[in-house]
Amino acid sequence: MTREAKAVVCRDWNQPIQVETIQVSPPKRNEIMIKLAACGVCHSDLSAATGKIQFPPPLVLGHEGAGKVVAVGEGVTAFKEGDAVISSFISMCGKCRQCVRGRPVLCENAAKALITLPDGTVRTHDSQGNALNVFGACGVMAEYATLHVDNAVKIDQNVPLQNAALVGCAVMTGVGAVFNTARVEPGSRTAIFGVGGVGLNAIQGCHTAGAEMIVAVDTNPEKLEMARQFGATHTVNASEEADAAKAVKKLTGGVDYAFECVGSGAVVAQAYKSLARGGTAVVVGVADPADKTSIGTFSLPADERTIKGSWLGSARPQYDFPRILALYQAGKLKLDELVTRTYSIDDAPQAFLDMEKGINARGVIMFD
Ligand SMILES: NC(=O)c1ccc[n+]([C@@H]2O[C@H](COP(=O)([O-])OP(=O)(O)OC[C@H]3O[C@@H](n4cnc5c(N)ncnc54)[C@H](O)[C@@H]3O)[C@@H](O)[C@H]2O)c1
Ligand SMILES: [Zn+2]
Ligand SMILES: [Zn+2]
Repeated sequence: MTREAKAVVCRDWNQPIQVETIQVSPPKRNEIMIKLAACGVCHSDLSAATGKIQFPPPLVLGHEGAGKVVAVGEGVTAFKEGDAVISSFISMCGKCRQCVRGRPVLCENAAKALITLPDGTVRTHDSQGNALNVFGACGVMAEYATLHVDNAVKIDQNVPLQNAALVGCAVMTGVGAVFNTARVEPGSRTAIFGVGGVGLNAIQGCHTAGAEMIVAVDTNPEKLEMARQFGATHTVNASEEADAAKAVKKLTGGVDYAFECVGSGAVVAQAYKSLARGGTAVVVGVADPADKTSIGTFSLPADERTIKGSWLGSARPQYDFPRILALYQAGKLKLDELVTRTYSIDDAPQAFLDMEKGINARGVIMFD
């Protein structure tokens, strides 16, 4: 049946987000409807709300959600009512060349599921009956959401859903950049530029991977404090340094892996500059499409450096989400400590303001 749901909607890139009551249609073939328990507030939601990420409004925000299945469409065999699931903003068809070669974040069919479900239509309408786009085929900052099965991962029922939700983006992105994209070896020297929700997870990924040095770089001293709790061995306050890359080099002699978790070409250049010979800079932050970066070209061959991107931590969601939750259950990853503050959906505008102010490791919207 169609459900009424409160949802966080971006109506216009120049206006604050708003909480509306929307209609969520029941699942069609190969779709499931979930009742959300929790949804994290990611910087990418803020970027979509301001147009830095150009998903056309009206758009239901949210791509870091977890909840329980309340209805399954025709043909669904992998999910049943009551299953716990995490949303995946990567739609993995499982059949294209990239999916088959083990790179589902690069799925050739994912482009069809950026602001709609993979068939190009949506299950979300406003009170006037107008269609609402959905962030990353998810739109899970809402009490209910109908997702394609390619955008959902079944998980262990015993994990608290407010922690599980964060695996849908921040944890997978940060930890995955370390485990999957960079493949950090024990004893490595590392630096993380930008230690918000994503960067803190890159830090704990480096810690779990056995990095020798983990330098946290941020302009916000409170974030540097949090970074220490997640395993940073050193901190650099970028607002006090004329050259943050130089400060990292001074501490480490140059790092083997640098992770950019801000979304700025200027910071990408700093991450690259902080590398030791043979080092790799991993770009995680999502910059404005017009943004550019500048690196010394000669250093690429002469120092055998690498610069590479990481999308959702190069995840294979069906494999990696449960793997990350198992590491959490084994006490090897901190998820409880990531949730600084929870909000009701009515307080979502405050959660976005707090994200802009940089108050939380992660703010999480909780549903009844
Ligand atoms: N690649 C992916 O798949 C993926 C997934 C999720 C988010 N992201 C992107 O990652 C970035 C971080 O997301 P988040 O949710 O962690 O955001 P956040 O707002 O929680 O954290 C960003 C951090 O960067 C710091 N910062 C800002 N300017 C800085 C500078 N010049 N030097 C050092 N630190 C600086 C801020 O103080 C803050 O702590 C965003 O661009 C987001 O869109 C990418
Ligand atoms: Zn995100
Ligand atoms: Zn595919």
